[in-house]
Amino acid sequence: MSVTLFPGVAVVTGAGGTGIGAAVARAFAAAGCQRIAITDLNGSTLQRTQEAINAAHPGVQIFAQAGNVADDHFAESFIGAVVKKFGRVDYAVNCAGILGQSLRSAETGIEEFDRVNGVNYRGCWLSSRAELKQMVKQDALCSHDPKRPAQRGAVVNIASQLGIVSRPTAPSYCASKAAVIGMTRADAVDYSKDGIRVNCVCPGVIETPMIMENPAVRETITPAAEIAPMKRMGQPAEVADAALFLCSTQASFVQGHVMVVDGGYVTV
Ligand SMILES: NC(=O)c1ccc[n+]([C@@H]2O[C@H](COP(=O)([O-])OP(=O)(O)OC[C@H]3O[C@@H](n4cnc5c(N)ncnc54)[C@H](O)[C@@H]3O)[C@@H](O)[C@H]2O)c1
Repeated sequence: MSVTLFPGVAVVTGAGGTGIGAAVARAFAAAGCQRIAITDLNGSTLQRTQEAINAAHPGVQIFAQAGNVADDHFAESFIGAVVKKFGRVDYAVNCAGILGQSLRSAETGIEEFDRVNGVNYRGCWLSSRAELKQMVKQDALCSHDPKRPAQRGAVVNIASQLGIVSRPTAPSYCASKAAVIGMTRADAVDYSKDGIRVNCVCPGVIETPMIMENPAVRETITPAAEIAPMKRMGQPAEVADAALFLCSTQASFVQGHVMVVDGGYVTV
């Protein structure tokens, strides 16, 4: 078997279904990661991700546990269960997220603001906090390149191009993703001394259930893909590959980075 860039343990939130998180989990398996923990609010789509990976990569061990990242205690208990099963957490990709209702600020209720931020920002913070707590106390793994430092862990938060630029009627969502970018940079500053890298990926318009399954959302958001120079929607696998690069020791000097994967949308 060829040497993998991912000898450690991967954790992916929002990994149910056919969206970005599921693509990240599949990409880890395809890249030779042998121990992958996945979670999602939706237990049945999570099971489908597990079955798809088991079918394509029978040797890979999958630990799947459904739960709500917005819950105060779920992330800690999930990471505790991952460590019990696999011993450590090396690569954590936090994908769980929701779009929220299409409203301007004056029409947005506090409940809706809290719901969106509770999953996208607070839920991402709770997940990365639990992952970082584990990473700081584990031994570092050797790099693929003996000249580079060993890595104690890598966190990748999935933010959005809408954390950088905005679109109409999405103040809670845009702000929640800008918060993820700020949190990523702050954690990168704090955890560099521990041999942990923290980066984020900002996808553009990606063809996932979040965009495609609700006709109103599909009609509003998919035309935005035409604004990007590449004039198409991205595929979940294209975001997954960026996340895997940032997790790998090939990205050993990439820290606090905001990697935009949007077909050039924010450049025009
Ligand atoms: N699709 C896009 O165009 C796009 C663009 C930019 C950013 N993003 C971000 O990428 C991430 C993945 O989105 P996607 O497009 O794959 O959407 P998706 O709806 O296909 O996947 C999101 C997953 O998160 C899960 N989830 C939702 N709330 C949760 C909770 N409280 N706890 C645990 N799991 C929860 C859902 O069940 C779902 O499986 C999100 O953070 C999203 O904001 C998506």
